[in-house]
Amino acid sequence: MSFWIRYIYNTSILIAGLLLLSSCQRESVKLKWDKNQKGEIRTLVLADDTKVKYTAYEKIFYTSKESDSTYQYMNIYVPCRMREDNPPIFLKTYVGGYMASKARGPLANDATAYALSEGYVVCIVGSRGWNSKFMNMHVGRAPAAIMDLKAAVRYLHANDSIMPGDAERIIADGTSAGGALVALLGASGNNADYALPLELLGAADARDDIWTVVSYCPVTDLEHSDMAYEWQFCSINDVRGLSDRQLLLSSQLASSYPDYLESQGVSEDKMDSWIRKYILQAASVAVSEGQEIAPETGVSLSDTTVDVSKFLRYMAGVQPLKSPPAFDALNVVNKYSTFENKLFGSVNGQDANFTEFAVKNQLSGNYKLSEDVKWKTHLMNPMEFIGKKGSTMSKHWYIRYGVLDRDTSFPVQLLLKHKLKVAGADVNFALQWGEAHSGDYQLTNLFEWLAKL
Ligand code: DHB
Repeated sequence: MSFWIRYIYNTSILIAGLLLLSSCQRESVKLKWDKNQKGEIRTLVLADDTKVKYTAYEKIFYTSKESDSTYQYMNIYVPCRMREDNPPIFLKTYVGGYMASKARGPLANDATAYALSEGYVVCIVGSRGWNSKFMNMHVGRAPAAIMDLKAAVRYLHANDSIMPGDAERIIADGTSAGGALVALLGASGNNADYALPLELLGAADARDDIWTVVSYCPVTDLEHSDMAYEWQFCSINDVRGLSDRQLLLSSQLASSYPDYLESQGVSEDKMDSWIRKYILQAASVAVSEGQEIAPETGVSLSDTTVDVSKFLRYMAGVQPLKSPPAFDALNVVNKYSTFENKLFGSVNGQDANFTEFAVKNQLSGNYKLSEDVKWKTHLMNPMEFIGKKGSTMSKHWYIRYGVLDRDTSFPVQLLLKHKLKVAGADVNFALQWGEAHSGDYQLTNLFEWLAKL
């Protein structure tokens, strides 16, 4: 990124920071864990009626200058029976749709309860999102959420010697937009591009790298997601109910994707063969667990073949696909915005396009892709950091994506996995048979893997 992009971005951050400073809601806190705090003993009842006792420490503010005190704190839950003296910290974000997410308590039916029952310290982090507001400023637009998560991680590192859990072994878990954020957290540890905004946020002066990423269906690599989506689905455009204009957009987007694939060292044929391979793998695991593979899926385990077009039609029958462009919508200025357009919107509340393609194809308005938005997309994309100097990348990655997930596409997941592997990460990747857009499934599998790290 050029000097000027950084300059514009850092200047706007500085102004926003000064504004926030002057209107700060709370006295500056010291970002120090209070060793004398009592916590509250609670019991969580799991689905099988097992009871897990733990101590709750809530509303731990991880910055000294928060702009949204309803979200910018974390809760720490310490199991009475820990798996070892200083166990790993299971950090959970409940971010969905790139919206603000509150630091809630552990849930009996997700990974937080499982982690507590397995004796991990659990840290549930709240963070701002595109819908956060403070004094009429939209303070949660990109990159606010990743800054908040990094600030929480810095707090854990800064207080490692005095608080429960081992900050050298932070496992971050999220789904969808949350899955994308934990992937970004894992890819961009300690990267200097985040240093100034974190300082202005009042984050602790500490490391922000994490040990392990648990990412379910990450809606990530947003700048290339429209192309990837159309590349995957354009062969079944006849069942998508698209207008002539949308059909044109679909074919334009699809045809620009191979160049991007090549830029990542992957051919179209390779990507196609990976998709077939991982769908077949998911089907064969499902069969080993007693499920049946319906013929309408186009998957034949006996022939080891996938009729991809048939499979995609089956998917589209389960739930309607997104229309092109799936992520960076046209006519954002006047009418319609996706979560992503809101994510990259401005502090004054205007949503924004974030790809050259969408900007070029606007229906109306004289709209331009700004350097500021380009810098924000850089800060929100793990693909920008994996395998590059300047970051401390997570060692271990667990990535899952449902075979019926139509919120983003297979190539986005497979490229993420590919890039991580090339960069030397330990990646446990699989597609999950029968699963749509969801997370925290097959928890026994996840926790058996974690226990072996
Ligand atoms: C989420 C879902 C989407 O379809 C999307 O575009 C972004 C985020 C989500 O569930 O978090």
